[in-house]
Amino acid sequence: MKARVLSGVQPSGNLHIGNYLGALKNWVRIQHDYESIFCIVDLHAITVYQKPEELRAKILEIAALFIASGIDPKHSALVVQSMVHGHAELSWLLTCVTPVGWLERMTQYKAKTQAIETIGDGLLQYPVLMAADILLYQAAIVPVGEDQSQHLELTRDIAQRFNSLYGATFVMPATNLPAVGARIMGLDEPEKKMSKSAAGAGHAVALLDPPEVIRKKIMRATTDSQPGVDFETMGAGVENLLAIFQAFSGWSDDQMKPHFTGMRYGDLKKQVAEMVVSQLEPLQARYREITADPAYLAGVLREGAERVTPIADSTVRLVKERMGLYTP
Ligand code: TRP
Repeated sequence: MKARVLSGVQPSGNLHIGNYLGALKNWVRIQHDYESIFCIVDLHAITVYQKPEELRAKILEIAALFIASGIDPKHSALVVQSMVHGHAELSWLLTCVTPVGWLERMTQYKAKTQAIETIGDGLLQYPVLMAADILLYQAAIVPVGEDQSQHLELTRDIAQRFNSLYGATFVMPATNLPAVGARIMGLDEPEKKMSKSAAGAGHAVALLDPPEVIRKKIMRATTDSQPGVDFETMGAGVENLLAIFQAFSGWSDDQMKPHFTGMRYGDLKKQVAEMVVSQLEPLQARYREITADPAYLAGVLREGAERVTPIADSTVRLVKERMGLYTP
């Protein structure tokens, strides 16, 4: 039996080339080696206020972008979290075995609540819901970025606590897949990982940015004061541009070095921009095809939910039984 892999993405912000090169492209490559579930975590998104119409559009956008990127919905389940009741239900059951202190200690909770006045309880519960996503399907592997490793550790802690209170129930999920994706940094601040929520207009190239916008953003990317590319001494900005080119082109180091050594930054940026534009063009064309047929997308999401619901239901039932709830 193939190992089950699960990951989740929030339907907020714009998916960008960092998401694509760092995660999505890799998932596409390995999806057939696993039983894969990709979850669009709308219940997580609403832990901070979302405009309803925008949220609904975003859920469909993310689903279409996943398919356009090469996720095969016939093999991998594309699941809108709120369409499968088990996520919310298991989340409550796990909440009851989770000490509040564990949640108050989470660094993302502390960071998020610094910026807002009224802190919704959902923000505190966020990591429990994520644990529920993972444990609901007894996922063996959860490919996420480093920023999520504290949440994953908490997932294991919750699973362990449940197991010790009620008997062996949950499989311990492994941290990660081996990191093979590229780590793409912000174009305007190459010391920081490219982020969906960063404010700078030139920070990220979104997967749906039109060619002119892509070119403009890349031409404005931060470099350094050296005259041209030097692989020994280059700063983070130049390194990032080269990483973007290499990840999209698939060139080897032996191809990269002679081609770019000594190149002026203006020329480097033009070549990076053209590479990105040419690689995103087919993806964007597929995206337009997919979104032109709303019935197709609705069918994929319905089918995704139908496929995983039996797994979710059997986990919830088992957990209820273990906890002594009435399960005739
Ligand atoms: N918290 C994750 C993020 O912001 C999203 C997420 C929710 C997730 N549930 C998940 C990731 C389950 C992996 C598995 O990136």
